[in-house]
Amino acid sequence: MIGPAKSRAAAPGRATLLRNRALVRGWLYVVLVVLFALVMVGGVTRLTDSGLSITEWQPVHGVIPPLDAAEWQEEFTKYQQIPEFRQINKDMDLAGFKTIFWWEWTHRILARGVGVVFAVPLLAFWLSGRLESELKPKLLGVLGLGALQGAVGWWMVASGLVGRVDVSQYRLATHLIMACLIFTATMVIARGLAPHSAPPADKATRRTALAILVLVLVQIYLGGLVAGLDAGLSYNTWPLMDGRLVPGDLFVIEPWWRNFFENPKLVQFVHRLGAYTVFATTLLHALAASARAPGSTHARRARLLLGLATVQVALGISTLVMQVPVDAALGHQAMALVVLGFAAAHWRGTRGAYPLPKRPPAAVASMDAAEHQVHVLDGRA
Ligand code: HEM
Repeated sequence: MIGPAKSRAAAPGRATLLRNRALVRGWLYVVLVVLFALVMVGGVTRLTDSGLSITEWQPVHGVIPPLDAAEWQEEFTKYQQIPEFRQINKDMDLAGFKTIFWWEWTHRILARGVGVVFAVPLLAFWLSGRLESELKPKLLGVLGLGALQGAVGWWMVASGLVGRVDVSQYRLATHLIMACLIFTATMVIARGLAPHSAPPADKATRRTALAILVLVLVQIYLGGLVAGLDAGLSYNTWPLMDGRLVPGDLFVIEPWWRNFFENPKLVQFVHRLGAYTVFATTLLHALAASARAPGSTHARRARLLLGLATVQVALGISTLVMQVPVDAALGHQAMALVVLGFAAAHWRGTRGAYPLPKRPPAAVASMDAAEHQVHVLDGRA
């Protein structure tokens, strides 16, 4: 009589497992929303030149902003020591300082907030045995990246406090790409936990979807360099740049490779080429997926991704020709995250859901045992 009892216990085990997956997925979607807000506030902080207003890194004490006039004055005095104030903002008064302070403070608070929103439920899911063992290293990896990102953020700010009036574009782009890697990893894990209505896509579709995800990440890194160098404030024409399709003077710095990071002209030009590559690849991907599996979920998503990439290219061009107004630049940054998130979800979707674990997590196993016990007591087992 073991057989029937086993099969009766297996059904609720699977249901519990799927319910746990839905819970974990819901939590990761909340994390994604907070991450999105964090990146947006980071964008405003950069575009309003607010990022150097807090000159110290105090992970715990830094949560409390100045509370009275004396503390505000003390904070303002620290800011007045750095080159950005002395060379660019020397006419700034306390009211102006408070504005830039609040942006940077909000960015730092959101960063700590996302840490809490990630770590506390992670611990709760872990301790209650709701996490499948395959998920644990993945989620710990995201947590580790988050902690590293805090340090990278300070490493970036530190580059702007001495000897220059803004942060290093190398560090800014690193900070942006780290944020995007955390966003991508969270999205991929969340989507892997979703029930997939469509079967996995063919190998070519899966590979191209992954290539697009990587290309979008590279393009975002290049965008970070454009932003960090203020390279969007010159050559504000499209499709020509400096009057030509391929402008001259792209390699004026020695050694040549530094031009890719330090010469605003080449940096902007490479960002344009990156955009054309992303666009062309998503176009080919949409056409190929629609030809191979017409009417499939994957083909539909590939076409949607093409639509999103097209909007993003249009936003990039508008941002450039309008000489980087804050709202257009923010829209361009927001859309970059939308394209990235969708590219990550699409790629994960082409692979199908994570397989159900062979050994259920502790909570499911104990629920199965309890279920079995009820059957035994009922005399049904
Ligand atoms: C798939 C296509 C594209 C992606 C994913 C992308 C992504 C990005 C990202 C992430 C940034 C940095 C935003 C920030 O840190 O504030 C950026 C900046 C920028 N991008 Fe793009 N971009 C794309 C296409 C384009 C195109 C086609 C152009 C113009 C021809 C363009 C022009 C710019 C400019 C001018 C900036 C600097 C904005 C600023 O200083 O805030 N982008 N891009």
